[in-house]
Amino acid sequence: ALRDSCIPKAEQQNENSSNNPQPEASYKVAILGAAGGIGQPLSLLIKMSPLVSALHLYDIANVKGVAADISHCNTPSQVLDFTGASELADSLKDVDVVVIPAGVPRKPGMTRDDLFNINASIVRTLIEAVADNCPDAFVHIISNPVNSTVPIAAEVLKQKGVYNPKKLFGVTTLDVVRANTFVAEKKNLKLIDVNVPVVGGHAGITILPLLSKTKPWVSFTDEEVQELTVRIQNAGTEVVEAKAGAGSATLSMAYAAARFVESSLRALDGDGDVYECCYIQSELTELPFFASRVKLGRKGVEEVISSDLHGLTAYELTALEALKPELEASIEKGIMFAHKAN
Ligand code: NAD
Ligand code: LMR
Repeated sequence: ALRDSCIPKAEQQNENSSNNPQPEASYKVAILGAAGGIGQPLSLLIKMSPLVSALHLYDIANVKGVAADISHCNTPSQVLDFTGASELADSLKDVDVVVIPAGVPRKPGMTRDDLFNINASIVRTLIEAVADNCPDAFVHIISNPVNSTVPIAAEVLKQKGVYNPKKLFGVTTLDVVRANTFVAEKKNLKLIDVNVPVVGGHAGITILPLLSKTKPWVSFTDEEVQELTVRIQNAGTEVVEAKAGAGSATLSMAYAAARFVESSLRALDGDGDVYECCYIQSELTELPFFASRVKLGRKGVEEVISSDLHGLTAYELTALEALKPELEASIEKGIMFAHKAN
């Protein structure tokens, strides 16, 4: 019952997987940045997963109390806390999935790229430790700017000789969650049914919801497409402005990240019906990294769903071309940083 009640699930392609027997708790998950605005609710949601046997909470400060608190929930996983650089390696030993929400969030008036100078170094340091201690784990990067931090992580893993492009993910699930919510609201649809693929990247115009590929099929006027696309692209800023200096999305992000973790664990557990959008190394376009829908399996990305980019509307095609220069520059910036830093 826990499995069905707690963790947000992605779409399923068919009905069969809901008949799977109750899974065994057997996976270890590490959260780096676990005491933060995202880290705390995310840790709680992952503690509720019946697939998790151990939850390793790492931060540079304040993580002991978070772990003590969460550890009292009577769900299967053991909760361990790790504080500071000297305990980072131990937090990663034997881990199956590493989630990284460490880093500073935006304040009003900032772009995600304004976070680059601080967060690029944080991600580099954490990924070096991932490479040394759990090179085979699925790595989920939340820290912004995702368009650049994922290429940084890829370069660091390459430098360490352990890069597996099928297991490095930029988490863009929140864009899908938002698109589903806003489309269901606008079109008066049952939320549970709506699924909108969101491709490209995770900043401003690089976030491209493919409304024409919404399932179930629904028609939009040109005005609706324009209004929904802009709202989905600016949803992060909507939250930053509402929080007025107290940070960016944390609760909806934790919900979205928990869904992506749960999907990854189901894939590791052999569920053959797991589909998510994420930002990965990709050959779908001429850009080296691109977010799209993928099928997840035991070895990470099993298949990139290229058909989502077929038969786009003129609006979507124009938006796709328009996002490429910005996304390319962000990727290049990340790669340059990783090379310079080496
Ligand atoms: P926060 O400031 O509340 O928490 C960040 C946490 O990271 C803090 O606990 C801090 O101590 C920790 N930290 C800093 N340096 C660290 C290091 N070297 N090692 C380990 N932990 C470290 O911020 P938040 O609101 O949780 O946001 C975190 C990041 O997530 C930001 O960069 C934000 O922009 C990003 N974000 C991404 C998405 C997305 O969709 N991908 C959505 C929301 C936020
Ligand atoms: C979001 O989309 O909410 C995050 O990327 C945080 C932000 O800075 O907007």
